[in-house]
Amino acid sequence: MTQPKPRPTIAEMVRYQPNLGAPVTDRVIRLSANEGAFGPSPKALAAMEEQSNLLHWYPEEEPVELAEKIASKYDLNPENMVFGCGSDELIMAICQAYLDPGDEAIHTEYGFIMYPMSTKVAGGSPVPAPDNNFKVDVDSILDCVTSRTRVVFLANPNNPTGSYLSRNEVARLHSKLPKDVLLVIDAAYSEFVVRNDYSSGAELVDKYENVIMLRTFSKLYSLAGLRLGWGYAKPHILDALHVVKQPFGANRAAVSAALASLDDQEFIDKAVEHNEKWRTWTASKFEELGLICLPSITNFLMVKFPNDDGKTANNAGSFLASRGIMTRGMSGYGAPDYLRLSIGTEDEMKIVVKNVAEFLRGE
Ligand SMILES: Cc1ncc(COP(=O)(O)O)c(C=O)c1O
Repeated sequence: MTQPKPRPTIAEMVRYQPNLGAPVTDRVIRLSANEGAFGPSPKALAAMEEQSNLLHWYPEEEPVELAEKIASKYDLNPENMVFGCGSDELIMAICQAYLDPGDEAIHTEYGFIMYPMSTKVAGGSPVPAPDNNFKVDVDSILDCVTSRTRVVFLANPNNPTGSYLSRNEVARLHSKLPKDVLLVIDAAYSEFVVRNDYSSGAELVDKYENVIMLRTFSKLYSLAGLRLGWGYAKPHILDALHVVKQPFGANRAAVSAALASLDDQEFIDKAVEHNEKWRTWTASKFEELGLICLPSITNFLMVKFPNDDGKTANNAGSFLASRGIMTRGMSGYGAPDYLRLSIGTEDEMKIVVKNVAEFLRGE
C-alpha cells in the first residue's frame, strides 16, 4: 500500500516506553517514574488555580519572573535561562540544534534513555560510554570522544542508577573535552542531593562557553504533570535552542505553580528529609532480604534480583504489579536483573518491603 513513510531512522525506532503500568487494584502505589512522594506543595496548587481565568491567553514566551526567582534561589544569572515543556523538550532541542547527520552524541551506558533517542531523532549517532560497575566513568567518556563528537550527555545524579560524579570529577571531564563539544549536565535530581562534594554544574556554566545545565520541576517539586524544565547556559547556546524549541513551552499553570513551590521552603525541606530517611530505610530492608541496591543519592533505588526461576526482577515486577505496586523494569536499559523504584510515602515503602519479602518467600 502506498502511504507516507517517516524517515528511515524514525521508522526503525520504538517510542519511549514509560512503563507506568495500568491500575490493577483499587489502590495503586506508583513508584515507576521517580515522581515526588507526596504530590506538589499546597501553595503550588493554590497558585495554579489562580490562573484558571487566564487560560485563554498564551503564557509569556519566556517566564521572566520565574527566571528571576530561580536565579535568586540558586544564585544564578537570570539572563542565562531557557524553559521547556519538561526538560525532555530541552534535551530534544539540544540534539536538533547541535547535531547534523553523522555527528556523535556521547551518553553513558546506563544513562537516561532520552539522550540516545533524541540524538537519533535529530539524525545524530548516539555513542554509549561504558559505565564502571554501574557508575559513570569519566575516562570512558573521554575515550569515546572523536572529531565527530558534538555533545556529551551526563545525568548527574544519574537515572536509573542513582549514582553521581563529584564536582571535581565533572570538572575533570569538562577540562578534557574539546572546547567545541557541548557538555550537557542534566541535574534533574539535584534538589534531592545531600552531599558536600556534589555540584549541579552551574559554576561551569558561569565560567565556560560549552556547558548547559538542565533542571526540572518534575522531581523534588512534584509537578511532573505540568511539564516544566529549565536550562542554564551562556546566551549563544540559548539563542540556538530558542530557534528549535517551541515558543510558549512553559505554560501558565506550570509557571505559577513553580513560582509558589520555590517559595515553599518547608515543603522542600520536608521532601529532602523524607527522601533521605526512607531511601536509607528501604535500601537496608532490601539488603536484609538479600537483595543488592546500587548506592543512590536520588529519590529512587535500582535493585538487583536473583537470576533463579520465579525470583527474577521480571517476576518481581509482575508480582508487585498484581498487588498494585508499579515499579520500573530495567530491560530497556540493558539491565534485566534490576528493578527501579522511587521513594514514596512511609506507608508505601512499608507495603513495598512487605510485598517484596512475600515475593521472595514465594507467598
Ligand atoms: C535524568 C532525567 N532527565 C530528564 C528527565 C525528564 O524530566 P522532565 O519531566 O522535566 O521532562 C528525567 C525524567 O525522568 C530524568 O530522569
